[in-house]
Amino acid sequence: MFLQVSHLNKSYPDTVGTLTAVNDVSFTLAVGEIVGLLGSSGSGKTTLGRLLTGLTASDSGSISLDGQIISFDSQKARRSYYRQVQYIFQEPAASFHPMHTIGKAIMEPLLHNGYSHAQAQKRVNELLQQIGLPAEYADRYIYQISGGEAQRIAIARAISIRPRLLICDEITSSLDTLTQQKIISLLLSLHKQYGTALLFITHDIFLAAAFCRRLLILSKGRLVEAGNTQTILHAPQHPATQQLLEAARNLTI
Ligand SMILES: Nc1ncnc2c1ncn2[C@@H]1O[C@H](COP(=O)(O)OP(=O)(O)OP(=O)(O)O)[C@@H](O)[C@H]1O
Ligand SMILES: [Mg+2]
Repeated sequence: MFLQVSHLNKSYPDTVGTLTAVNDVSFTLAVGEIVGLLGSSGSGKTTLGRLLTGLTASDSGSISLDGQIISFDSQKARRSYYRQVQYIFQEPAASFHPMHTIGKAIMEPLLHNGYSHAQAQKRVNELLQQIGLPAEYADRYIYQISGGEAQRIAIARAISIRPRLLICDEITSSLDTLTQQKIISLLLSLHKQYGTALLFITHDIFLAAAFCRRLLILSKGRLVEAGNTQTILHAPQHPATQQLLEAARNLTI
């Protein structure tokens, strides 16, 4: 186990009082593990993903990496954590600067991590090749590429420094099935090559089941079911899991 999440909580004020978006969530991830984080819309998946990367501050609870509690207040600790844990956003285009070229966007984490300009440029070419895009895409801007391409570029940027864990938030939800498959294959080849662990956030339980060994199910901010994928598929215990399965089955009819 290298990531340990303990009793994370996050609430927001709402019209009737407080909305608990993440409610006492605890789980662990083993080195190189591929885990699906599932839940219906509004169940707290993105909030939990953001807490895991310090993009949103938790109200309470802790995140430990290799047994050390991460303090997102310290820039040094944050930097070291981001070398190991990277997050890919639900909306890829939103995470790119509109005035920066794709090449510059991918280079940014490399330059922050000790690469020289020339080394970073070489790595950008390697990464573009790895995600199946021509080298000249480095000179394009985000508005000049498609959603699926943007998602692959977001992956290239996140994996550029070879993190140990990649958190992917609904990264294939707006893509056609073929592009979706290509992106999953890319993630799996990374996992094979570098042993990258994946926390794959989705509402599509069959998609997650296709390649995640273990599933975590969120409902109303709580982790209501967790365990081996096949066990959960064959004998879902919680109504929220049953609903996710039902919704996925209805889609495939
Ligand atoms: N910054 C915020 N301020 C107030 N409420 C928020 C904020 N962020 C999220 N919420 C609320 O927290 C709940 C969980 O939202 P979250 O985005 O984590 O859900 P999700 O599971 O990712 O949903 P989706 O599948 O639609 O992406 C929702 O009710 C949402 O409205
Ligand atoms: Mg979300």
